[in-house]
Amino acid sequence: MPAAPSTAPVTVRLEKTANSALSELAEQTRQRLGQRCQDSADWTLLFDELGVELLGGADAPGHGVRAATRRLSRVSPRQPFARALGRQPRRIVDATAGLGEDALMMFALGHEVLVIERSPVACALLEGAALLGRFPFPVLFGDARELLGKLEPEVVYLDPMFPSKRRSSALPPKGPRYLAAVVGPDADAEQLLTVAQQVATDRVVVKRPDHAPSLTPAPRSRHEGKLVRYDVYAPVAPTEYEQTS
Ligand SMILES: C[S@@+](CC[C@H](N)C(=O)[O-])C[C@H]1O[C@@H](n2cnc3c(N)ncnc32)[C@H](O)[C@@H]1O
Repeated sequence: MPAAPSTAPVTVRLEKTANSALSELAEQTRQRLGQRCQDSADWTLLFDELGVELLGGADAPGHGVRAATRRLSRVSPRQPFARALGRQPRRIVDATAGLGEDALMMFALGHEVLVIERSPVACALLEGAALLGRFPFPVLFGDARELLGKLEPEVVYLDPMFPSKRRSSALPPKGPRYLAAVVGPDADAEQLLTVAQQVATDRVVVKRPDHAPSLTPAPRSRHEGKLVRYDVYAPVAPTEYEQTS
């Protein structure tokens, strides 16, 4: 399986105000980053009493990006997102967790959620939010292509990176913009979809920008929103070769 794309270099800054769980998370994040953890990088992960925040070069603390900031208000079951996931409460694995905003919406719709994230930076943001009670699901660090086979999801949800087509006059919000800059493109998303289809028992839902082609042809159905759409794929039984290899 090809290696994950490399994260941009990041400085890990631990403030004395961080509690012991956050201090441990800072140390774990340093280890996960390895050589990409540097003393004066363009990006900083700040661990303090408010959790974990990703700061760009010019950002003062409090003006960067945190995970799971969405207010958990009621999500309409008529939204394309809700219809794509299905009406019944399901066991969903969000295999591209990012900042955890979509996972929070799944939770608000009554689904059971577990998330996977392979970027040490995004994972630190999610685990920081979890430690402060803002993100009430298990977070697994690693590549979903390897971890999905150990889980038994009914639904796998995928939202791989896709380049924005907006011009600089209409920049995407800071969260997605910072995440894209630090994490880079997800060039292996098609492969992830193949694995997801072999593991999910009910469906795989793929979020795409409205201008993006489907990850692979012929989704079973499509649910169009204003700026994004959700392609729904049926499960596919693995071939005999894939089962034994
Ligand atoms: C566009 S972001 C997802 C945003 C997310 N839906 C949200 O609501 O914040 C894509 C994320 O998927 C992660 N990702 C992509 N491929 C992955 C894989 N094979 N395993 C684990 N994480 C993956 C990337 O690291 C990135 O953080």
